[in-house]
Amino acid sequence: MKEDLVLPAPREAAADSAGEPLLQVAGLTKHFPVKGGFPIRRTVGAVQAVDGIDLTVHVGESFGLVGESGCGKSTTGRLITRLMEPTAGTISYRGKDITHASRKQLAPIRSEIQMIFQDPYSSLNPRQTVGKIISGPMEINDIVPEGGREKRVRELLEIVGLNPEHYNRFPHEFSGGQRQRIGVARALALEPKLIVADEPVSALDVSIQAQVVNLLQKVQAELGIAFLFIAHDLAVVRHFSQRVAVMYLGKIIEVGDRESIYTRPRHPYTHALLSAVPEVNLSDETDGGRRERIRLAGDVPSPISPPSGCRFRTRCWKAQDKCAAEEPPLIQISGNHEGHLTACHFPEEPTIEGRDEDIVLDPALAALEEGIEGQ
Ligand SMILES: Nc1ncnc2c1ncn2[C@@H]1O[C@H](COP(=O)(O)OP(=O)(O)OP(=O)(O)O)[C@@H](O)[C@H]1O
Ligand code: SF4
Ligand SMILES: [Mg+2]
Repeated sequence: MKEDLVLPAPREAAADSAGEPLLQVAGLTKHFPVKGGFPIRRTVGAVQAVDGIDLTVHVGESFGLVGESGCGKSTTGRLITRLMEPTAGTISYRGKDITHASRKQLAPIRSEIQMIFQDPYSSLNPRQTVGKIISGPMEINDIVPEGGREKRVRELLEIVGLNPEHYNRFPHEFSGGQRQRIGVARALALEPKLIVADEPVSALDVSIQAQVVNLLQKVQAELGIAFLFIAHDLAVVRHFSQRVAVMYLGKIIEVGDRESIYTRPRHPYTHALLSAVPEVNLSDETDGGRRERIRLAGDVPSPISPPSGCRFRTRCWKAQDKCAAEEPPLIQISGNHEGHLTACHFPEEPTIEGRDEDIVLDPALAALEEGIEGQ
């Protein structure tokens, strides 16, 4: 028989607990079966969407999870919020194992973990008023705050910078940025302790992105809510996250505090991601503005048959035989600060010095550029 989840009361848990582990994930794995064959369809393989990741989000902390499209970020978010069952691994929340907790067992913490979705258009029901949408989580969880639900919704609208008088309007009457604010208000309705924000600004215009990030930052700081902030580039999480993990093809390949990741990155892939971020372009600071770009060859390999050893090796300019034979463990390699872990056999120097030359990894691209220059 499964043990009942016994958790401390939320208020008690939040008091003076900043910095303590809130969410702990160990060996988290999700493999989606791939079916094939005719007339009988059998499982012929698996999409290794998430493949044994470890991460910890502390109380009140903002943790960034970054990586290219398809590397498993959303799957990780869905596993953590228990929208999906993991293939293996464990998820602990406030010290209790919730990996396989039933709906009933999850009930006491359902309200504490909320999600904000990428698309502010499809994530709001077009037939419901803003008031109904934001009070939805309160209704589902049968919660009536002091002063009633409507009062709380109006307060929430104010917190996210919307007019409380817009209570009776419908989503189509709002812009993308405003809709995402409605999504934020809905996530805040139950006073969560952890928000998993899955690319919350990617669908918005660049000019609006900063406003929504600022709002989330304000919410995080003022309400002490921990965030798992998912993004596909390092620019978005730079000002938001105290710690950042970089994912590649289902694995975390580097994790550390903001300073380590942005100024002392060791993994070649982190270097490549940083080189694509104009404001943190490494050589900008060191050689008077010459742009260093690292272009990664080809696409991300298929997660159905990822490369042996280091999964990044097919696109890595430093790859050697050892990289194909042995998977590099995610560890604190020599030269890293405390808590800065890197999975690489031949890491970069812990420096922000610019390179002498561009690293152009795509031979076709190099040939094309040479051709253009030669004309
Ligand atoms: N339900 C599913 N069934 C089969 N494969 C899936 C399923 N959901 C995701 N995948 C696959 O798992 C891998 C990881 O997907 P995921 O959506 O987690 O990536 P992501 O990092 O969020 O990408 P994006 O930046 O495009 O949102 C992808 O190869 C995807 O095709
Ligand atoms: S282990 Fe090898 S292939 Fe992987 S990132 Fe390091 S040098 Fe590149
Ligand atoms: Mg995604």
